[in-house]
Formats: sequence, structure tokens, C-alpha cells
Amino acid sequence: MAVVEAFAPGRVNLIGDHTDYTGGLVLPMAIDLGTTVRGRRTGDAVRLASADDATPAVVPLGIDGAAAGAVEPAWARYLAGVVAVTRPRVGFDGTVTTTLPIGAGLSSSAALTVAVALALGFDGDATDLALACQRAEQVASGVPCGVMDPLASATGVAGHALLIDCATLAVEPIAIPAGASIVVVHSGAARALAGSAYATRRSECERAESEIGPLRDASAADVASLRDPVLRRRAHHVVTENARVRAFAAALTAGDLPAAGAAMTASHASLRDDFEVSTPALDALVARLAATPGVHGARLTGAGFGGCAVALTEPGVDVGGWPVRASAAARLGFSRPGSA
Ligand code: GLA
Repeated sequence: MAVVEAFAPGRVNLIGDHTDYTGGLVLPMAIDLGTTVRGRRTGDAVRLASADDATPAVVPLGIDGAAAGAVEPAWARYLAGVVAVTRPRVGFDGTVTTTLPIGAGLSSSAALTVAVALALGFDGDATDLALACQRAEQVASGVPCGVMDPLASATGVAGHALLIDCATLAVEPIAIPAGASIVVVHSGAARALAGSAYATRRSECERAESEIGPLRDASAADVASLRDPVLRRRAHHVVTENARVRAFAAALTAGDLPAAGAAMTASHASLRDDFEVSTPALDALVARLAATPGVHGARLTGAGFGGCAVALTEPGVDVGGWPVRASAAARLGFSRPGSA
């Protein structure tokens, strides 16, 4: 029986946060840290051992979505979500390893679902894979997450960031200029209340849209017409963030790194003031990064509420953290028995 090896990268989002679930623009980059699932397709359960947990994950093939969200250990819920959504015909017996920091905002959960779905034999295209894994994560965590993270993992291009239109799911690779370095730095604070606060932000965007239509198409005047000041701020973030994604992509393409960095730093201010998903630790970190010589710009990355910041820097600038490179997409390989 062939040994299956699936690798899925995590991602760092360079700009465009809290825009995906309103069909907006995002610009993530699959990174050279990720999750590997290795083993054999066999049996009637998915069984994965992790070096980080003495308890293996064991998920029966017949599990449904409701049961998937209650599986123990908690990380096994992501496997269960994939099984419940993709309904593989054959089980799996193997191991999972990761080079991603868990829960830091680098999409360790999306990398896990994408690697598991590929290992179990998911046979759709990259978009279908991302949509299935988005659904699996929603089932597993109860958080109404968007499609950005699995889509970045499923469509990554080495040396490129990905300009994604979340209305059409079109992905346009944008080359990272040779003189640009990307560094991820942890704020030191774990994400707190991320699930419930995320759901609240998403529903606030939906309330704004019920008044002024899709935020994707809203004008500044539409945003100003919102009477509720909280909804006005949320909508203002989304509309201006979509514009910043375009400006950032244009700046990157033109090799204008100071302009790209300025868009990032403005994005952080908007996430802090209008969307209110930053933390004092993230604000202090971004301020430190932005004041460091050789740093073009910095911002929190991902959902916020803790976790990491991302900085665009000149090569060789040491700001602490993980320098990351743009990686190719998730991939699946097979090897012969005995070479395992
Ligand atoms: C999390 C979600 C994504 C996206 C970001 C914020 O990472 O999983 O879908 O909404 O937050 O941009």
C-alpha cells in the first residue's frame, strides 16, 4: 500500500484583513512553514498521531458535523470537520507534524485541514479544496471563518503573494520584489476570545450590508449614511481596507516598498481604531516595528485579538521573529512501501 504524504503551507496575510467574508480583497502569501500528514489510506477511521500530543486523533468515517465539533483532543476536531464535509470512502493511519506555531495567526488550522483533505484523497480543484476546508473549519471550531486561509494554502505560488478577490475567488499571483523581506513577529499574547469576537464582527458587517448593500461596492457616502457609529466604523474599515489592498498590490508590482509599507501601517490603524481587533501588545509591537530603521511598514495579521504582526523590511533587518518566504501550494505525493 502506497505511503501518502500531503503538505499544506500556512499563510501570512500581508494586507486585507476582515474583508474576505464580505467578498472583499485580501493579499496573503503561503509560507514555507506548514503541516505534513503522512501515512496509508486504510480502514474505516482516520487515525493520526501527533508528536505534540500523546493522545492520537481517531475519527470514524461516519462522523457528522455536529459530533465533529465535540471530538477530543480538540485538534482532532479539524480532522473530524474534514471527514464530515468531504466524506472519504477509506480511512487513514498516519502521523501529522507541523513547523507552524499553533494559534499564532499563521493559519495552522487551515494548513491542517488542507493537508488532511489531500491525504484522504479529496479530488476537487484548489477552489473546491479551499471551500471544503473552510466549511470543515467552521464545523470544527464553530467560528464563521472566511475562505482566505485555506485558499492561500491551496493556491500558493513560490516567490509570490496572492491577490484574491473573495467574491469570485480569482487568485492573481503578485511577485514579491527581490529587495523585500517579510518577517512575522509574535506579540507575546495568545489570541483571546477570537471566536466570539470574530463572529460579532462578521455579524456587524452583515448588519451594515443590510442597510447599504454589499460593502464590496459601497462608497464613502454609503458608509457615512450608516446611523449606528459602530457599524459605520466597521464598514469604514472594510471599504478602506479593500482600497489599501489594491494600493499595496500596485506598490508591490511597481517595487515601491515604502508605499507598500505605508499601506500596511494604515491597515493596522484601521484594524485598531475602526474594526477594534487589535490589542495593546500588538499596537506596541507594530509601533516598535514601524520605528525600526529598514522596516517599510507593519500591521497585525489575521483575525487579531492577539497573535502576530507582519513587517515588510529591507533584507537583513533583524526585528526578531520568523523571516518567511513565499511558498508553493499544498501538494500530495506517494512513495513505495519500504521507502516510508
Ligand atoms: C481569520 C479567518 C479568515 C479571515 C481573517 C481576517 O484568519 O479564518 O477567514 O477572516 O481571520 O482577515
